[in-house]
Order: sequence, then C-alpha cells, then structure tokens
Amino acid sequence: MDKLIIKGGKRLKGEVEISGAKNAALPIIAASLLASGSSTMNRVPDLKDVITIGKLLTYLGAEFHYENRKAIISTERISNLEAPYSLVKTMRASVLVLGPLLARFGRARVSLPGGCAIGARPINLHLMGLEKMGAKIELESGYVLARAKRLRGTSIYFDIPTVTGTENLMMAASLAEGKTVLENAAKEPEVADLADALISMGAKIKGAGESIVEIEGVDKLKPFNYSIIPDRIETGTFMTIAGITGGDIIIKGCRLEHLDAPIMKLRDAGLVFKNVSDGIRVIGPLRPIANNVTTMPYPGFPTDMQAQFMALMSIADGTSIIKETIFENRFMHVAELRRMGADITIEDGTATVKGIPKLKGAPLMATDLRASASLVVAALAAEGETTIHRLYHLDRGYEKMEEKLIKIGANVRRVRE
Ligand code: EPU
Repeated sequence: MDKLIIKGGKRLKGEVEISGAKNAALPIIAASLLASGSSTMNRVPDLKDVITIGKLLTYLGAEFHYENRKAIISTERISNLEAPYSLVKTMRASVLVLGPLLARFGRARVSLPGGCAIGARPINLHLMGLEKMGAKIELESGYVLARAKRLRGTSIYFDIPTVTGTENLMMAASLAEGKTVLENAAKEPEVADLADALISMGAKIKGAGESIVEIEGVDKLKPFNYSIIPDRIETGTFMTIAGITGGDIIIKGCRLEHLDAPIMKLRDAGLVFKNVSDGIRVIGPLRPIANNVTTMPYPGFPTDMQAQFMALMSIADGTSIIKETIFENRFMHVAELRRMGADITIEDGTATVKGIPKLKGAPLMATDLRASASLVVAALAAEGETTIHRLYHLDRGYEKMEEKLIKIGANVRRVRE
C-alpha cells in the first residue's frame, strides 16, 4: 500500500494537462459489450478503476488491451454473463455491465454492490427500469439475476436522477424493441458522452444530457472508435489547488462548460480565471473568502467536488455552510481535516466550516476517492509535513496525481508502505 508525503505551503505554479474522465470511461467501456467486434477508445485515463473494469470484461470473455491511453476491447467471444462479487465490491461501477449484458444476451447475473464509504447507494432504480422494460429480476444470494428474451421500450420515471442508473437503462434501451423514454434522467456530461458513444455505435438517442431522454431501440449495434471527454472533477480539483496554495496554474485540455457551478463558487471564493488557448489560467487569492455550497445533481455543484471545496473553505476568511444532499455519508474527510486543525462541525448533512488562517500537517487516512483528493488539497497548503495513508483510493480516480503536482512545484513523494 502506498502513502503520499506532502510538504505544504508552496505557491504552485505551472501547467497541468487534464486526463480523460473516469466516469465517462467506465460506462463507455461497458457499452462495448452491446456489439460484437473490436471497439477502440482513446484518452482513457490510467486508473485503477479502468484496470478493474478491464478485468471484469476479461472475466466475461472479452479481450481488453490497454496501452498509451488507448483501450481496445474485443467482444466477439463473451462466454460468461456474471459480474462476480470480488470485482463489484472493489468498484461499484461494475454494475454498468448489467444493462448491456441483458440487452445483448438476454441474461445477466451481477453481484449487488452493497453500501460503501459514502452511503448506502442502492440500485433499485436500475432494477425498476429494467423490470418495466420486461426483464424478470430475481435477487439470490447477493446477486441480481436478470432475464429477458428481448427488452421492450417503455416510459420510465426516476424518483431520483441517478447517473449510472440512467446509463444502464440508456444502454439497455438502445437494443430494446421500440421506444424508451427516460424521465427525470441524470444530466451529467458523462451521461451525454456515453450517449454520443452509443450514437456512434448506431443507437438512436435524443436528449441525453437533458432530463428527458428518448431512445429508439435498434436490432444491432456496431463497435465504436471514440475519444472521451476530459475529467471535470480532476479539473475542478486542480482549480481548488490553485485556490488553496495562492497558486497560478494553467489547466489545459479541459471543458469549462462542464464546470459552471464550481467556477462560479470558486470565483466567489476569490479565485481569478483567465481564458488561455486550450484551457484556463487559475490564480488563487491571498486568502480564500468563505462561501456556502449545496451539492446538487448536474448542473448543480457536484458532490464529487464537495470535499475539495471544503478543504479550501477550511482556511477561508469567515464561516461557510456546506450541505451534502446526494450521499448521506460523504463527510468522511471532516475528521481528517480536523486532525490538521480545521474547525468543522457536522449536523444533519450540513458542515459548518469556520475558516482558520493555516492548517498544520498531520498523518491522515484516505477513506474514499474524493475525500483523498481533499486531503491532498489541504496538505498542499498546510504548514509542515502531511502523510496520506491508503493512497489506493486516490489511484482509483486521479491519473498520475503526484507527477502532475511535482510538475507545478509541489513537494510530494510517494512511498511504498
Ligand atoms: N440512488 C437510489 N437508487 C438507485 C440509484 C441511486 O436511491 O437505484 C440514489 C443514490 O443513493 C444517491 C443518488 O441516488 O443518493 C444519486 O446517485 P447516483 O446513482 O447518481 O450515483 P452513481 O451513479 O452511483 C455516479 C458517479 C459518482 C458520483 C455520483 C453522483 C460513476 C461511476 N459514479 O455514481 O462518482 O458521485 O454519480 O454524481 O459515474 C466518484 O467519481 O468519486 C463517484 C463516487
């Protein structure tokens, strides 16, 4: 297990190149199962989660080759229709193979993901949608067994907009008979990116990225050759890093239109943004200004940025109120930030962050992906040395984080424990 040692307090300056989006890569890799043949995907980030979904596809009988940010996936010989507990428990997004396997092969057995560090995270809405499309769903020994000769198009309303739920049903509906309408669908850019990949496979989808999505099922899809969007959460994380270190960072290869809410909040916190060719220059203030935030589905402020924003607010001038409305337990970073001296209290899904002038380095434990990112953000501004243990959480979703940080002047070192 690796740990990260950070000596904070440096003003970070330089250029960072943003990687492909983890949460676009995972569903699009799963979508390759909808067609027989060899799909190619570019700009695939070198992440542990990508390796995990590659392992899952290999387990199903596909071939998965990954090199130089390119994934080639061959799906001619799918011999197994089961996503086993051992893989699903390490990555919940494994549930994304349910829709494609069921739609193409008429059957799938997928381990139930169970709860995780940030909340209960049920998949009832994925199953409700598939059932409405005519699938027979059984739960047995911790697995979902889904069967359908051919799924049928129908209208589906999500009580809560769910990102992977919308993606699973969009993939399933692409090969269903007739038209499916998804209402109150998730509008995240990663959903729209998956739809674009599916359209390149021959799917007929309208409205992805909006709350009503219409999918006209087709009999067959073809493999894709697709480049995914840049990671908006990695982009936002580096913006926060510029903010907390009073830095001056040029972020290249990002899509700013996916970050309206975080940019507005960061501007209110005193960060300055200047357009540059193929990116944005972000200049941090002497001290951030306190600012309230409530996480919301896209285009609201993303839950995946809440922890990093809280790290920034922990040294702001004034008190910030941060509300988490998507996941019930996404404040695991608070106890760790407190170890650095932060003054944060939590009550009913709301954190009150009283900004202090400086954080102090401390030994910390990463608990989930975005919590880990927030600890890195905090450590970069803290006085003295911070050690972040259980770095595998960070490696699930940030490509070469420490290399990118070193390039902009951070004092960061990875050590094997
Ligand atoms: N929900 C249900 N029932 C369902 C599905 C969801 O009640 O069947 C609830 C969840 O418990 C949660 C809310 O709906 O309270 C929204 O969850 P959603 O389904 O949208 O989350 P997800 O699809 O499991 C994706 C991302 C997460 C990101 C969330 C929210 C992927 C692979 N994961 O998860 O990313 O936080 O959307 O934007 O796309 C991360 O990258 O660190 C991460 C956790």
